[in-house]
Amino acid sequence: MAVHLGRLKLKNPVITASGTFGYGEEYADYVDLNKLGAIVVKGLSLKPRLGNPPPRIMETTGGMLNSVGLQNIGVDVFIEEKLPFLRQYDTAVIANIYGETYDEYKKVAKKLSAVKGVHALEVNISCPNVKKGGVSFGSDPKVAAKVTQTVKEETSLPVIVKLTPNVTDIAAIAQAVEKAGADAISLINTLTGMAVDLKTRKPYLRNITGGLSGPAIKPIALRMVWEVLQRVSVPVIGIGGIMTAEDALEFLILGAQAVQIGTANFINPHATMEIIEGIKDYLTANKIKDVNEIIGTFQS
Ligand SMILES: Cc1cc2nc3c(=O)[nH]c(=O)nc-3n(C[C@H](O)[C@H](O)[C@H](O)COP(=O)(O)O)c2cc1C
Repeated sequence: MAVHLGRLKLKNPVITASGTFGYGEEYADYVDLNKLGAIVVKGLSLKPRLGNPPPRIMETTGGMLNSVGLQNIGVDVFIEEKLPFLRQYDTAVIANIYGETYDEYKKVAKKLSAVKGVHALEVNISCPNVKKGGVSFGSDPKVAAKVTQTVKEETSLPVIVKLTPNVTDIAAIAQAVEKAGADAISLINTLTGMAVDLKTRKPYLRNITGGLSGPAIKPIALRMVWEVLQRVSVPVIGIGGIMTAEDALEFLILGAQAVQIGTANFINPHATMEIIEGIKDYLTANKIKDVNEIIGTFQS
């Protein structure tokens, strides 16, 4: 079941998505963290952030809307209080990072690269719920490339760049970050959406708009992963609406080297374990010995 994301070796292709698995601790009662391919922690910024005011989560027909706005404990508290817990596990830890400026991305990357127990950085240039930074870094190929280059200069860790779907041509952004040195690319983050309360005629979310995730976005995510795969040669991690092993297999067959599981963790805290077992069952049923044998076998 082992896969390679460039230099980063994972024991299997199933990773938790940032912001949906806390810092790992929160799920340790439900999930054997040792069994995960990797854990991506909640997005970290230089200083702690409170995020947006509530209500900031709502359930929609095919998933959820959130406008959490990158609430987090800040990189220093993560290193002191959360990383020692994660170090006990034989699982790759990927730190998702966020900055409002190039300099902030740089500082967060530098701090995380100086400590033991972080195996890769995932650069979030795609959050739709923050006023500064976030998606504004991810929607212009030149800016996306500059953030990538800035982080690469600060670290010797593998750098994964996480893309936003809220753009016209996601493959153009992917090409730009690959050229700037990204070791891998993950996609997609949430799609900007909103919901109206008929009683009050107001938006459900205080922020008015939020990021849509869950089953509703899977077809869009698959299409975008497919578009990106045709234009880059670095490994791609598929994210978006993966709830079951079958969903994950669709991304792998398409050519993603690994997948991330997000909203599914909120609905079923055992989702990642069930997805790993389900992929194994599929391989056994089809007499396939190695998961790599199905990656990129899509017939178009
Ligand atoms: C509540 C919530 C918080 C999130 N926080 C982050 C974050 O801090 N950094 C990030 O890169 N993505 C964040 N995401 C996006 C997810 O990692 C993922 O890309 C997205 O939800 C799509 O996958 P899914 O449909 O499996 O949930 C968040 C998503 C949700 C639902």
